[in-house]
Amino acid sequence: MPKFHKLSVREVRRETPECVSISFDVPAEVRSEYDFLPGQHLTLRTHLDGSEIRRSYSICTSPMEGELRVAVKQVPGGQFSGFANERLQSGDELDVMTPLGNFALHTDPSALHNYVAFAAGSGITPVISMLKTVLRNEPGSRFTLFYGNKNSESVIFREEIEGLKNEHMTRLAVHYVLSQEDPGIELFHGRIDAEKCRKFCQHLMDVEAVDGFYLCGPAPMIEAVRSTLLELGVDERKLHSELFNTTGAIAESRRDWAKSGGAATSSITLTLDGKTYSYQHINPSETILDAGANFAPELPYACKGGVCCTCKAKVLEGEVEMEVCYGLEKEEIAAGYVLTCQSHPKTDKVVLSFDE
Ligand code: FES
Repeated sequence: MPKFHKLSVREVRRETPECVSISFDVPAEVRSEYDFLPGQHLTLRTHLDGSEIRRSYSICTSPMEGELRVAVKQVPGGQFSGFANERLQSGDELDVMTPLGNFALHTDPSALHNYVAFAAGSGITPVISMLKTVLRNEPGSRFTLFYGNKNSESVIFREEIEGLKNEHMTRLAVHYVLSQEDPGIELFHGRIDAEKCRKFCQHLMDVEAVDGFYLCGPAPMIEAVRSTLLELGVDERKLHSELFNTTGAIAESRRDWAKSGGAATSSITLTLDGKTYSYQHINPSETILDAGANFAPELPYACKGGVCCTCKAKVLEGEVEMEVCYGLEKEEIAAGYVLTCQSHPKTDKVVLSFDE
């Protein structure tokens, strides 16, 4: 069960004009609860202007560094990202949920692997954690990073990446792709799209020899790279992705959902932390998470966008339908797991557990 603890901010470090990274002091008595895999994220909770705000941010340190740190890029109008970039200070306290997320890389010191990552903007955050862990924990493995940004000033962790390149010259290759600055080579000028991905595959890697592709960034980049790699014959099981910024896709799916007439009224029973709650779900357009929050306090959630999986539960009886699902693995869906922030009941009785 994911759990919040109040943690004190150790440092707020400016990474670029639009991005800070935040590290936390983790007391010894809860330290083991914050063990994480490279690629996982933390949900931060605070109150701003009288309302509760929750946001998920990927951890940018490697588990081997002994530090818990996330990066927060300021987005226009972003309540939490604005607060973190402008007002948050060392010594402040935030509620920090224990780490979660399926976008994770498992390393093995005896492995001889070839990894390739495509990241854009703050999509570098989980990727740099993976990259550092591979370089430290898999001495026989190689990592190639394609990293898209507006210009060289907006490249998050540039100094750290350059340091790692110098330290691991034969094992780490980094290619920056800039959309609003001419890097002098046409191939690296623009956005990472299908055409660029195809050229990178032709000239800069042996696609067949890659053991895992890790993609993190906005939907257009992920979709373009993913479909190009599939066209080139890459096995789908080698593709791992995490979407940033799902707002457009969700709005689209909400419209479709409303058109389809929504789901049936349903009697819901849910278990959370060993306690059982029962209630009538009477508004078909409401999700199980939103309706359930009126009856069961502390239902876990963060993004409410089908990405972070914090709201994951297992359907034990009945059926639900999800609007979108970006975060669950196929095996989890087959085993009956759903994202409750996206789920509407389809049958007149639904039994779910957040504890399984
Ligand atoms: S709250 Fe993030 S997937 Fe549901």
